[in-house]
Amino acid sequence: MAKDIEILKNENMNIADKIYIFDTTLRDGEQTPGVALTVDEKIQIARKLNNLGVDKIEVGFPASSKGELESAKKIRAEDLDSTLVGLSRSLSSDIDAVLDADLGYIHTFIGTSPLHRDYKLKKSKEEIIQSAVESVEYAKDHGLTVEFSAEDATRTEKDYLFEVFSEVVDAGADFLDVPDTVGVLTPIFTHELITDIKNNFKTPISVHFHNDFGLATANTLTAIECGADQAHVTVNGLGERTGNCSLEEIVMTLKSVYGVDLGIDTTRLYSLSQLVGRLTGVKMPVNKPIVGDNAFAHESGIHVHGILNNSFTYEPMSPEMVGHSRRIVLGKHTGANALKSKLKEYHIELDEEQFCKVFDEIKSLGDSGRCVTDDDLIAIAITELSSARETPIVIKGLSISMGANVSPTATVKLEIDGVEKETASTGVGPIDASLTAIRELIQDTMEIELEEYNLAAINGGTDALAEVFVITSDPDGNQSTGRSTNQDIVMASILAILDSINKLLLIKRSI
Ligand code: KIV
Ligand code: ZN
Repeated sequence: MAKDIEILKNENMNIADKIYIFDTTLRDGEQTPGVALTVDEKIQIARKLNNLGVDKIEVGFPASSKGELESAKKIRAEDLDSTLVGLSRSLSSDIDAVLDADLGYIHTFIGTSPLHRDYKLKKSKEEIIQSAVESVEYAKDHGLTVEFSAEDATRTEKDYLFEVFSEVVDAGADFLDVPDTVGVLTPIFTHELITDIKNNFKTPISVHFHNDFGLATANTLTAIECGADQAHVTVNGLGERTGNCSLEEIVMTLKSVYGVDLGIDTTRLYSLSQLVGRLTGVKMPVNKPIVGDNAFAHESGIHVHGILNNSFTYEPMSPEMVGHSRRIVLGKHTGANALKSKLKEYHIELDEEQFCKVFDEIKSLGDSGRCVTDDDLIAIAITELSSARETPIVIKGLSISMGANVSPTATVKLEIDGVEKETASTGVGPIDASLTAIRELIQDTMEIELEEYNLAAINGGTDALAEVFVITSDPDGNQSTGRSTNQDIVMASILAILDSINKLLLIKRSI
């Protein structure tokens, strides 16, 4: 029976009974450089966040533009279960925009650090307190739930920060938020600060930590260990500069490591991450925790062997818990167990000799620096199975003629299943002309589409080796990769295309 990890929560921690997840993907997340979401896209994300079960969704900054106000109104009209929040500065006109969007919860902020007071707001400490108090009172008078943020709290003098907090509490603030606006906290300072705030204030405490030094999740977790009642997070850790604390990281750490159930449907995390990645255009690195492509991928033979016996040997949680999937990757570290399980996945049965040959080929592909895809494996195994070591299509001749202002012509001779055929075609360039000729020559055998073409020079100089990688597909949706290295770019391209076509043909014939 699989054994889950030990729950690490202990009595030295002061974890609140209820921890609120405040998602700000649609506000701080949208402040990621280069990201702008349409109203429709914001609605799609808000629905998914709601289905995931986050407590609060910061829908935007309604006073900042007509579009922001409109999207806040439209999300409001969705009648979601999560509490919807609008951002505002400490200005009555900003608060009016939140009211106009009919949001019941406001997140109002003002800079409190010396840098913000002196260089941005040009206000004295007293003036800052006055603006903060007036805005909290104004929002409360209009029936809003008020969360107050002391922007750049972590670079604010502690006694002054506490003075600001106590004044806004007196004015009626319902939540006090501690933004680490430029991500300068470390876990030990977070511990000190949040413990101190919790000892001095009864009002629930929220934290909003940025990731400039890669510490946002660690700091947020520390704050929660010290009693913080709420975490501001974003999907995929999006946000200003290097982003905010990542929703999926904090939720899964709390669930898997601390055994804290936040009422979040974690099985929806991966698809939410994918949606946000697609709509924002910010793709996750493969090694991003929880939702990256490699989060549940294994190559090393030792690890795969362990995983196949009991997945907890090399995974701290199961991919199913977050709606992701496990991937066994083939390469130079592959072990026999991994290969056997892959072949089983594709219902390919090999005898011992065939298995050894496929195993050796995969190892040598890995050793030569290639990444071995599942398509490669299928093609290698099928080639082995059909014992058709000779390729069905072989290049027998190629000549290119080019002239100024004339389209290049490629004359290609192929041997297809032992029969020689030749044709000439023109194209926008020599590779295009050659591909057209190949298509013409193989048209009675198969149709192909060139899905991807990548050319790289292996070393410098005009005699550089060209390495071409292609993906081709057939009308049945089969895809296959092809690679070749040659000093001639056109020849490298044609050999890579034929390599891929031959694999497709073997797949087609084996089905
Ligand atoms: O990072 C920050 O300080 C903010 C404020 C608006 C709270 O996003
Ligand atoms: Zn922020």
